[in-house]
Amino acid sequence: MSMTLQGRKALVTGGGSGIGRTIALDLAAEGADVCILDMNEAESISTANAIAALGRQSEVLVCDTGDESVVSAIEALQTSGRFGPIDLLVNNAGTSPKKNDGLKHMVWEISPAEWRQVMNINLNGYFYTMRAILPVMIERKKGAIVNISSLAGRRYSSIAGGAYATSKSAIEGLTRQVAGEVAHFGIRVNGVAPGRIETLMAAKAGAAFNEQIRVATPLGRLGVPTDIANAVSFLLSDKASFITGETLIVSGGRGL
Ligand SMILES: NC(=O)c1ccc[n+]([C@@H]2O[C@H](COP(=O)([O-])OP(=O)(O)OC[C@H]3O[C@@H](n4cnc5c(N)ncnc54)[C@H](O)[C@@H]3O)[C@@H](O)[C@H]2O)c1
Repeated sequence: MSMTLQGRKALVTGGGSGIGRTIALDLAAEGADVCILDMNEAESISTANAIAALGRQSEVLVCDTGDESVVSAIEALQTSGRFGPIDLLVNNAGTSPKKNDGLKHMVWEISPAEWRQVMNINLNGYFYTMRAILPVMIERKKGAIVNISSLAGRRYSSIAGGAYATSKSAIEGLTRQVAGEVAHFGIRVNGVAPGRIETLMAAKAGAAFNEQIRVATPLGRLGVPTDIANAVSFLLSDKASFITGETLIVSGGRGL
């Protein structure tokens, strides 16, 4: 089996569970060593153990990406010699608050605290990790980044709240902007915008709602985390060496 990411060092935020865990395991299967950065220590360790079982180096950084202290935590990891320098970054940790009934708050119902929390994690967190990792990539003149956004950042979403949708649109803008700034250093920055993917985040909306989404999806099914991991591994690999600044929608045709 040919491995497209042999010898690379990757960091995946939100890699403890859901889509991030599957991305991390796929990167490891493609030959990369992987650091899991997640706020859930137990799940991070579980993913790291699964990576080690594949014969790759694994590392855990327990952090909240919504707190700017994540910048110094990543810098310390890279200078400690424990893990790094980082070649591949996947920004994936995200939050999508829902009410107890699984429905979103309308924009006029969102508390300022909820708005700030979503922006801190979904948008500022992506900035913080790039702020920490890009200087080293620039010095080494290589690297690739994938930012996970959402179909909700492209189209009106009846499921996701306004803070979430706004943060995901902004991620696409940030992806384009950074891609333009670092291209001449040999660094590529792309995005993946998932449609409905079967994870705990999606389960919060309830089975009936997810069935409506399935019916509205031309390919006739919800996505699974592997659908996203495949796109991420491709965009991080040299097979995508002439692609930068793009966000690839992976939604089974929903939203066409
Ligand atoms: N599941 C979907 O249908 C769907 C659709 C579109 C986009 N997305 C996006 O995909 C990404 C992953 O979603 P998922 O469904 O796997 O989510 P999930 O809730 O199942 O898992 C999220 C992971 O991120 C970690 N995490 C959350 N906030 C964090 C923080 N502040 N700091 C560090 N770690 C944190 C959690 O501990 C968990 O391990 C998110 O950015 C989400 O917006 C998901």
